[in-house]
Amino acid sequence: MTWQATVLTLFPGMFPGPLGQSLAGRALEDRLWSLDLRDLRDYGLGRHRTVDDTPFGGGAGMVMRPDVVAAAIRDVMAGGRPVIYPTPRGRQLRQEDVRRLSGGPGVVVLCGRYEGVDERVLEACAVEQVSIGDYVLSGGEMAALVLLDSCVRLIPGVMGSDASGAEESFSDGLLEYPHYTKPASWEGRDVPDILLSGHHAAIARWRQTESETATQVRRPDLWAAYRRRTGQDMSDPVSPAADPDRLH
Ligand code: ADE
Repeated sequence: MTWQATVLTLFPGMFPGPLGQSLAGRALEDRLWSLDLRDLRDYGLGRHRTVDDTPFGGGAGMVMRPDVVAAAIRDVMAGGRPVIYPTPRGRQLRQEDVRRLSGGPGVVVLCGRYEGVDERVLEACAVEQVSIGDYVLSGGEMAALVLLDSCVRLIPGVMGSDASGAEESFSDGLLEYPHYTKPASWEGRDVPDILLSGHHAAIARWRQTESETATQVRRPDLWAAYRRRTGQDMSDPVSPAADPDRLH
């Protein structure tokens, strides 16, 4: 069954955008996933096809009307697919969410503009609110592209080498180790000797340590969760390997 993405937006021209290129673009051509775009304006009211109105209680900006948004959601026959509303008010999107969404039948993504969407339609249609980070975008479209990209690349057959999906950052709760390629010496900087040694077990150990160090220094939140999950004491001092100056 094709993984099915439906996007409800006032700016359908923003899609597929970057998702029409590279891995996601090829997978779209190969029908490993489908993209159904719905212009929210088509569900607008009256001669002007109005989709928004002023907020009750006053204040700046406009709010998308619940009746318009509900008509669009109900028209797309979500059919078991979750309806996702990207918003900075949402729960943070994590790789485990991406795995869950990618493993299901697909998603319906509701893109908001203006100040947002009337809260009642989010409740009535059991919409999942998701944030892609603690910053504010001018609308949900860019976040929808991010969400879809993260899901599509996990669809079986989309990535060239399946190993790269399992090994990368977050799959085990750690950041990835650093990568190097030719030339072995470049502008006075040498690739770490161990990577040229051919000792696979030693290389694997080095990479694990590098992953742990990067996580410890850059993402103490992930490091604490990793230590809890792997049952290690959290009161350990920072490892001497964790020299922040080595990480850029
Ligand atoms: N819409 C606007 N900002 C957003 C964010 N940070 N995450 C998800 N959707 C958004």
